Amino acid sequence: MLITIPDILSKTDLFKLNTLLEQGQFKDGKLTAGWHAKLVKNNQQLSGNDKVARQAIAILNNGLQKNAIFSRVTLPRKMRPPLFSRYEPGMEYGNHIDDAVMGADRGFRTDISFTVFLNDPESYDGGELVMNSSVGEQKFKLQAGSAIVYPSTTLHRVAPVTRGVRQVTVSWLQSLVRSAEHREILFDIDTTRRAIFERDGKTKEFDLLSKSHANLLRLWAEP
Ligand code: NI
Repeated sequence: MLITIPDILSKTDLFKLNTLLEQGQFKDGKLTAGWHAKLVKNNQQLSGNDKVARQAIAILNNGLQKNAIFSRVTLPRKMRPPLFSRYEPGMEYGNHIDDAVMGADRGFRTDISFTVFLNDPESYDGGELVMNSSVGEQKFKLQAGSAIVYPSTTLHRVAPVTRGVRQVTVSWLQSLVRSAEHREILFDIDTTRRAIFERDGKTKEFDLLSKSHANLLRLWAEP
């Protein structure tokens, strides 16, 4: 399931984050790309061990943890350290698939990718995140502080920036539930039982749906 989530970061957090990023040291993004993604990746990234990066990551993590939709959609088990990227005019990231397995010990499976947009979409041209699907391309250019969350199984690209600067942060999750189809079923049942609870309280129907939700999670979770 592909979903956009508004306001992962508040205006205050965005301001703090962008002020930090102005002090950061950005390097060629090819340094963190796989051998074929390298061929099409043309952007700049904040070096990960930078003090600025650590502070920026803390602000982002705080926003993600506070967002109920983000955790209900993704069912996170673990997350890769986020990368902060800049695209200046002429920069883009061509079509690619994200690495399936990450980490020095190859101990991280990427189930879900996400991008949080960090600056005003009016301040730059181009720079859409473009997802390939069976019905053609879908383009996303979100408000500052909003996120797009999508299965890592998807081919995607970042369109060339032609004016201004595109600033985003991207990362990956290993989910408790590997299959995107299973995650979507769990999310739908969870959403429905919450709606029933809101409307009618803890009814028999709510209890049955909660039972199905819990037992499907038990079947599918890989803790
Ligand atoms: Ni990617």
